[in-house]
Amino acid sequence: MEKIKKNILVINGPNLNMLGLREHEHYGSSSLNDIESLVNKIANNNGFFVDFRQSNDEGEIVSWIQQAIDKYSGLIINAGAYSHTSIAIYDALKIINFPIIEVHLSNIYSREQFRKKSLISELADGVICGFGQSSYELAISAIIKNLNIGN
Ligand code: DQA
Repeated sequence: MEKIKKNILVINGPNLNMLGLREHEHYGSSSLNDIESLVNKIANNNGFFVDFRQSNDEGEIVSWIQQAIDKYSGLIINAGAYSHTSIAIYDALKIINFPIIEVHLSNIYSREQFRKKSLISELADGVICGFGQSSYELAISAIIKNLNIGN
């Protein structure tokens, strides 16, 4: 049986570099670095490695998704506001042939109308939102479980 790759890509979209400073009522007080440490810890404890990235640039995110093909075994993505608008990210994700989990810190369904539709959701194997930094903890645990079962 082929050995599974142990690399998981985590992509964070616009304004997520400002976590800790922005809208605590929606996003909590943890910084993106705090979340990265948490995700790394869970992954490493399970023998996985995480490539954790953030960009405010839609085109850069599209390029990262394109380059991910054949390099990773799973993708966790919080595309921030681009979740609701980006056909370019949607099209890039369509090419990905490994599990995708969409995460959001906030519950996008309990907020403004324009946040209730994420273009990414229909391409994701699972969607986790509303649990603050725990959304990421749940996502990394779920993708590891999924990959281990698939093996
Ligand atoms: C977010 C929700 C989006 O609607 C928003 O634009 C973000 C963060 C979240 O993690 O809750 O930037 O993706």
